Amino acid sequence: MAVERTLSIIKPDATARDITGKINAKFEGVGLRVVAQKRIRLTLAQAQAFYEVHAERSFYDELCEYMASGPVVVQVLEGEDAISHHREVMGATNPAAAAEDTIRKEFGVTVQENSVHGSDSPETAAREIGFFFSQVEIVG
Ligand code: CMP
Repeated sequence: MAVERTLSIIKPDATARDITGKINAKFEGVGLRVVAQKRIRLTLAQAQAFYEVHAERSFYDELCEYMASGPVVVQVLEGEDAISHHREVMGATNPAAAAEDTIRKEFGVTVQENSVHGSDSPETAAREIGFFFSQVEIVG
């Protein structure tokens, strides 16, 4: 196993319910360290650029509007196998299909308002971390 970094977003449905701390406790509870974090409000153009890989999907426009609809907390998480470990603790994209004890099972509302985002590969993590953070903002 290798120490990795991954990009995490706590989405508008979660910041609206003030559960950032509860979600961070889940991450820290499984050994994922928060090594960078900031609360921001994405513009529509920023949300579109971040999710450009989904531009052809039917849910793209709605997804971008939702991600720009309220504050998000963007984070870099660090730990052993952080990318897959993070995805495991988040649970399936659709909260209705997520396993017990996962964040999306506990807090997710719909397939869109699913509380959290996580990078899906080392290449994606590098791009997504660079989208939000400069090197001096990440302190391991
Ligand atoms: P996320 O992990 O951020 O990746 C893409 C996002 O699109 C996903 O979480 C959901 O918030 C959103 N989304 C909305 N509808 C769907 C869908 N039908 N399938 C997958 N993702 C969806």
